[in-house]
Amino acid sequence: MKPYIVAVFNQKGGISKTTTSTNLAVCLAAYGKTVVVIDLDSQGDSTKSMGIDPNVKRGIYDLFVGNAEVNDIIIPTPFENVRILPSTYSLAGIEIRLSELKDSQRTLVHILSRLELDADYVIVDCPPALGILPINALAAAQAVIIPVTATPYANDGLMRTLPSIKYVQEGLNKSLLLQGVLFTINDNNKTTRKINDLIRHRLGGTVYRTEIPRDNMVIEAATARLPVCIYDPHSPAALAHLDFTGEMLDRHIKIAAKASITLPPVCPREQALANLERWSERHMVNVDRPTGDRLRQKKAQLDRLLYGDRTPFERFHLDVIHFFIDNRLYLVAFIAAVFLLVGILLGMGVGGVKMLLQATGLM
Ligand SMILES: Nc1ncnc2c1ncn2[C@@H]1O[C@H](COP(=O)(O)OP(=O)(O)OP(=O)(O)O)[C@@H](O)[C@H]1O
Ligand SMILES: [Mg+2]
Repeated sequence: MKPYIVAVFNQKGGISKTTTSTNLAVCLAAYGKTVVVIDLDSQGDSTKSMGIDPNVKRGIYDLFVGNAEVNDIIIPTPFENVRILPSTYSLAGIEIRLSELKDSQRTLVHILSRLELDADYVIVDCPPALGILPINALAAAQAVIIPVTATPYANDGLMRTLPSIKYVQEGLNKSLLLQGVLFTINDNNKTTRKINDLIRHRLGGTVYRTEIPRDNMVIEAATARLPVCIYDPHSPAALAHLDFTGEMLDRHIKIAAKASITLPPVCPREQALANLERWSERHMVNVDRPTGDRLRQKKAQLDRLLYGDRTPFERFHLDVIHFFIDNRLYLVAFIAAVFLLVGILLGMGVGGVKMLLQATGLM
């Protein structure tokens, strides 16, 4: 049977496309599936996160320009049943090369149709922005997953991404299905909840039940060049990725059933978790857990990615605003109450204030 090709796409950068792709890949393998990851990003983040040196000689670029076939460049990863079509830095120049070719938006479709990939799932990690590579991914995929992070800009990313998917559905790939929207890097505060609720309300059942929490273990794992599901299978983010994969598999089984296709059952969650634990034990023996400055830098980098380059004052300002939103306080009413209190205290004079403090036991 042909593999189910899933593109992981959002035009916005830094919202966990690569983290979702790599963890989805190892979790699918843990559920007993065979997987191929396609790294379509010249940054090579998913190649690196799968423990592969991005300086491999040949990769996706060579496939796109016809210098190689899939079997020449596909490589096994250290994780059972997961292989990768790696990215190389030369991929950055692909736009110009492809623009010279005919039917360049379907290059990946043609490449994949030349050979029966021996895999149940193909996961395509897309670069941010809408260029020729994501268009190729969406043209070749049966389904697309959109990771979304509930920052004040989350809606912008979605508003730019959904029309791009529609554009592909109306022309290049009429059978492309929006498999689901996944909330990622979820901060645990009321503002995040509100943004998520708003998007859930708009998109209904398209949004996966599982949400991936913000978890420093993911950053540690990325710094050690491993998916968090291998780095620490019991961390909150790893368990959420496992649950999301289960949900994604359920959706696929239901979608296939509608087309009268019966997919083989997947192994139970406990078994999948046990597989991740086993692989983790094997890999973590050789891994130095990153600490100190490098980790702090990565965390600061993530903050900048999510919230922009704000000065400490701007951050304080934002925190104050969030405090008022979270606690349902009206700023004007709050300031008026403070002025009233100060007025009363001034009116009472020093003696009056002393009396008040004594009466309330504060003096
Ligand atoms: N659940 C999480 N908790 C904490 N940090 C996370 C989480 N998911 C991802 N990150 C971190 O957020 C950063 C961006 O993630 P990632 O590289 O997966 O995003 P991306 O969308 O692929 O980025 P790009 O658009 O640059 O390709 C990384 O440093 C990653 O380690
Ligand atoms: Mg990425």
